[in-house]
Amino acid sequence: MTWLYVSLMFHLIGVGMIFTLLFAGPIIEANFRWENDIRMKQHSAKLLRSVGLLSPFGALVLTLSGIGNMVSLHIGFGDLFGSAWWLGLKLILFVILLAIGMVISPKIARQRAMLLDQINQINPPEDSSEKLDVLNGRQTVFFLVNWVLVLLIILLTIFKP
Ligand code: HEM
Repeated sequence: MTWLYVSLMFHLIGVGMIFTLLFAGPIIEANFRWENDIRMKQHSAKLLRSVGLLSPFGALVLTLSGIGNMVSLHIGFGDLFGSAWWLGLKLILFVILLAIGMVISPKIARQRAMLLDQINQINPPEDSSEKLDVLNGRQTVFFLVNWVLVLLIILLTIFKP
C-alpha cells in the first residue's frame, strides 16, 4: 500500500463526512419547520448546530488528505495555476463551502436560537414569525448552494478538464 492509497482513503472518509452533513442538514431542518411546539423547534435547532460541528473536522480531514494526495501525485502549488487548474478551481469552491459552513450557517443558527428564545416569551415580538421565515429562507438557499458546490467539486475531480 502506497502513501497515495492512505491519503485517498482519508480523503474519501472526509468526503463521507461532508455528505453526511449534506443529507442530515435538510432532514433536521424539515423537522424544525414541521414542528409546531416551540420547545421541539429549539431541540431541532440545537441538533442542527451539533451536527454542523462535523464540518470543521470534515474540512480538516479533507484538507490534510488533499495535501497528501497532492504530494503523492507530485502536484505543486504552481500547478494550481497551470496544468492542475481544475484543482485550483476546486480549492476556491472549497473555500466558499468552508465560509458558508463555518461562518454564515452558524450565524443563521445563532440568530434563529435568539429568535426562538424571544418567541418562547410571554409577549413575543409581533414580527418574530416573519423574521423566522426570512432566516428559514436563507438557510434553504445555503443548503442548495452547499449541494451545488460539492457536486461541482466532485465533477471537477472526476473530469479534471
Ligand atoms: C468538499 C471538498 C472535497 C471533495 C468533495 C473532494 C472529493 C474528491 C474525490 C471524490 C476524489 C477522488 C478520490 C479517488 O480517486 O479515489 C478527490 C481526489 C483528490 N482531491 Fe479532493 N475533495 C475535496 C477537497 C479537496 C481539497 C481541499 C484538496 C487539496 C488540498 C483536494 C485534493 C485532491 C487531490 C490532489 C486528489 C487526487 C486527484 C487525482 O486523482 O488526480 N481535495 N477529491
